[in-house]
This record gives sequence, C-alpha cells and structure tokens, in this order.
Amino acid sequence: MLLLTNIAQLATLRGSESSRRGSELNDIGLITDAAVLSTGGRIVVAGKQREILRHPWLKKHKRKIKEIDCSNKTVLPGFVDSHTHLIFATPRLIDFENRIAGATYQEIAEAGGGIRSSVAGVRSTSEAKLADGALKALNHMLACGTTTVEAKSGYGLSFEAEMKSLRAIRRAAKQWPGAVVPTLLGAHVVPAEYKTNRDEYVRLVCEKMMPEAAKKKLAQFVDVFCETGAFSVEECQDVFCAAGKYGLKPRAHIGQFTACALDSLLKFSPASLDHLDHVFERDLPRLAQSQTVATLVPGANYFLGHARYPDARGLIDAGVAVALATDFNPGTSPTPNMQFILSLACTQMKLTPAEAISAATINGAHALLLGDRKGSIEPGKDADMAVFDVKDYREIAYWFGENLCKMTIANGNLNS
Ligand code: NIG
Ligand code: FE
Repeated sequence: MLLLTNIAQLATLRGSESSRRGSELNDIGLITDAAVLSTGGRIVVAGKQREILRHPWLKKHKRKIKEIDCSNKTVLPGFVDSHTHLIFATPRLIDFENRIAGATYQEIAEAGGGIRSSVAGVRSTSEAKLADGALKALNHMLACGTTTVEAKSGYGLSFEAEMKSLRAIRRAAKQWPGAVVPTLLGAHVVPAEYKTNRDEYVRLVCEKMMPEAAKKKLAQFVDVFCETGAFSVEECQDVFCAAGKYGLKPRAHIGQFTACALDSLLKFSPASLDHLDHVFERDLPRLAQSQTVATLVPGANYFLGHARYPDARGLIDAGVAVALATDFNPGTSPTPNMQFILSLACTQMKLTPAEAISAATINGAHALLLGDRKGSIEPGKDADMAVFDVKDYREIAYWFGENLCKMTIANGNLNS
C-alpha cells in the first residue's frame, strides 16, 4: 500500500472516459497540496491531502502503508508512450552523418540506408540480445516517467525475424514493471529481396505474419507505413482488412512526408494515425468525428532537422484527439524521454504545457485502447505515476535536456 503525501501539484487527468479534445486538453484535473493512496497496483483515492488523510482505509491499514513524501514535487500519471520502435540492433550513425552532410531522409532511404539498413542487424541478432536492448530502452523510459509503452517490430521484415522481434518484446516486457503493448509492423517497408515482387511481401505479412502473431498472442495491433517508398493506400487497406480477420487492431504511420487521403483508412476505425505532418484540410472533419487518435511525434521532426512540425493547433482546433509519443527508433527519433517531447510540443507546435500533458497521458492511453486503465490517476485505475522534482507542472515542459523525473510507480511498483 502506497501513500504519496505533500504533493505540491497533482495532475489527475480525471474524467478520462473518452479522449480529450479542444479545450478539454487544458483540463488536467490539477490538485494542490494533494495525496494519492494506492494498493494492489490500483489507485484507491486521489485528492486534497487533508481529505485523503481522513480516508477510512488509512486507519484500518496504518501499519501496511509505505509513505512517500512528495514535498515540492509534481505528480503526473505515468506517461503513455503510444508509438515506439523498440526492437533494433544498432544505432544508425552513417545515416546520421549523411544527413548532417546534407542528404535528406528519403534520399538516404533510396540509396539503401534508412529502415532497410537496420534489417541485417535484427536478422542476425538473437532474441535474447534484442530483448536486452529493448529492456535497456524500457528502463530509460521508466526513469524518465513513462509507465506504458507501445512497442513495434518492423526491422526484421521476414517471417522469422518479425516473430523473433515480437518474442523479444514479450521477453523484455516480462522483466519490466510497466505495461508493454506489442504491435506487428511487418509492413514497414518492402525488404530488398521482395523488391520486384511486393505483392508477395504484402501477402506474407497478411497471410503468414498476422495469423501467427495473433495465434501466439504476440501482437495486439498491426501497423503499416503508408508513404511513397513504403506502402500505398491500397496496400494499407489490404493490411487493415487482414488485421480485422485475425482480431488485430489497426494503426498506421501516415502523412510523414506526403499527404494522402485519410478516408479509405478511417473506415477501418484505426486506434491511431501517427505522424500527420501532412494532412489534407478536407480530412480534418472526418478525423475529428472519429475515435481515431492523431499521434504526433515531433522528436522525428527535431532529429531529421525539419523546420516544419505537424500542425497540432489546427488538429486540436478542428476537434481531433491528439496524442504525443516519442517514436523511439534508430532512424528518426532516438529518444526515450517524453519530457523532451513535451518541450518540443510546447516550443515547436505551440501546445500549452497542460495540453501536452493530456496528449502524453490520457490521450496516449486512448490511442492504445487503454483509456479505462491507464493515463489518469483515478480510483480503480492502475497505479501508474511519475514524480517530478518541480513545484509547478509547467516546468516539466520548460526545462529541457534534463531528466526531472525522480521516481516512477508502475502498476504499484516503486522505481527510483
Ligand atoms: O516512425 N516512418 C517510419 N518509421 C519510423 C522511422 C523508421 C526508421 O527510419 O528507422 C518513423 O519515423
Ligand atoms: Fe514510427
């Protein structure tokens, strides 16, 4: 039983039944001089300290309570990082230097770098080694305040290497106190050996990878990279169609470099559409009416040196549910730290700190269809919290390049 006391500011994000949109994003359910009681990995009550201290549970279980003094600290729900490529073997330092020398991401990809250059490493690395790398990244994420992580395969691009990647995710997740949500991204790009036979690769993803991932419960979601040089809208539709057959839920990378019409994918009710740097204005009302979350990953814009960021304000003003994620990956966003993503959201996309926090917690949870368990500090929900060494929640997005998180509680487990 855990009791967090003397919390300077507690952002509860209460009222979390649906994703936050428009002005709701600014409502983070802030309580000053607060306390939170949790037991068995669940929140019992959160509120003003003077009220919590009168809670009947406290008297009854006095000796079993571990108290954590959070004086001068801010407590948030643990971040929900709803888009990461957790499984890869090595950083992509050659791409990095080529970009510094002036090449673009697409030029590097066309010349054989990019996603395809991560494939040999994953294919030749053991499941145990991939899991070690994943666990190391998960632990960095936890230390930075993240307690729920979506984790994609997508650098194996063969039946064996994609299944190995998903097994590595499962292996790492077992050793980590937070929650990991696995996603099959077999349709990341067409691997070199299928270059002249891309239909057969799409079939491999749909007819072999998906049924196996579903049968072995290795994935909950299926992702696809919809982009020039990756997969066409028609191929994405095939992938989404097959996902439905196997009970896997769809999500997609879309609009990272070029805009494409969203309606043909929205009809599959994807849990999220991610990146959305380029969106047709006419698609906004339809996206806003849907339950699909728009997940923005400004770490990729930062790392690729783009001056342009997704139009987060336009999306929010149109009524779209916006989430923020790291997009942790070796090619476009090698950061495990959601605090930095909050900073980018505020400075580059003009979100308020409160909007950024909603997008990084409760809306991330909804992007993973976990809004009933994650993303807010409310009775009955999982005890996932992050304690920051600042008195005002706005400071979490204000200071940058530093880890302000001093402690995380993931499913009731304390990590400091
Ligand atoms: O989200 N866009 C596709 N996938 C990743 C990049 C992967 C890579 O370059 O390794 C992304 O940015
Ligand atoms: Fe991504």
